Amino acid sequence: RADDHIRPRRLQDYIGQPVVREQMEIFIGAARQRGDALDHVLIFGPPGLGKTTLSHIIAHEMGANLRQTSGPVLEKAGDLAALLTNLEPHDVLFIDEIHRLSPVVEEILYPALEDFQLDIMIGDGPAARSIKLDLPPFTLVGATTRAGLLTSPLRDRFGIVQRLEFYNVEDLAYIVRRAGTIVGAQVDEGGAYEIARRSRGTPRIANRLLRRVRDYAQVKHNGLITSDIADRALNMLNVDEQGFDHMDRRLLLAVIEKFDGGPVGVDSLAAAIGEERGTIEDVLEPFLIQQGYLMRTPRGRVATRRSWQHFGLTIPAHLSAGT
Ligand code: ADE
Repeated sequence: RADDHIRPRRLQDYIGQPVVREQMEIFIGAARQRGDALDHVLIFGPPGLGKTTLSHIIAHEMGANLRQTSGPVLEKAGDLAALLTNLEPHDVLFIDEIHRLSPVVEEILYPALEDFQLDIMIGDGPAARSIKLDLPPFTLVGATTRAGLLTSPLRDRFGIVQRLEFYNVEDLAYIVRRAGTIVGAQVDEGGAYEIARRSRGTPRIANRLLRRVRDYAQVKHNGLITSDIADRALNMLNVDEQGFDHMDRRLLLAVIEKFDGGPVGVDSLAAAIGEERGTIEDVLEPFLIQQGYLMRTPRGRVATRRSWQHFGLTIPAHLSAGT
């Protein structure tokens, strides 16, 4: 991955998620003192907030190996069995998109998680036999965008559940400056802050914008990323003042213009903007909701006053009452 060399390796360098960090310091410290494997960890939250980074840190802090795979890659029971039987004690098995495991794979995961036992069928028909293998004590780290996507028996088997939050601007500015140092981009305080303000609370986006703004600064300026250069570069990239990109604006404008501000069901909204429902739910709307531009109600998505203001539109009467 492009960001591999800028990922923090230690919990103490994992900034902007103070609750996660404090809890994980305690749970990892305790497991290490006892000489146990760490309990299984479920990490959930929108893309780009550091789920993979955290899994690397957990393995590193446990002094163990990390084995990495993802839900859709594990097609057959044997695919998971192969990984599990190659683990060493206390190793971390990271399964990204764990909500996309097939039911047969999920079935064999349960006894593996609970009793470190592998129950697999070999052969089929009358010759089929079931064999049981002991596994070393290991830690499963599962990642998903929303905890609600998991079946409840799977969710129940994680002793530690961590929800990653959007980062505030100060923490993102720190991450931008750190990444700038590592990749050799010159960013001043104002430049880092401007990129941070427009990165949707997401380190992966901040790191991507940093690369593009750096290109701009190099070609159009003397290479130094100031707030003015960052502003011009981000305008060129169609990232607006709030950090919304083309799809964010398309979604908000659809709610306002095509559905009179809502409520509109997510499937109708998906059809209106030509985007997948899952992308709206996992990628687009979490930030818009967190920032107060969109609301999720039992009858559908509703644009708030702030959305009209953002586009310089006249706020409809029913929303401006009581201001
Ligand atoms: N880079 C990406 N995510 C980070 C984090 N949480 N802390 C420090 N650097 C990061």
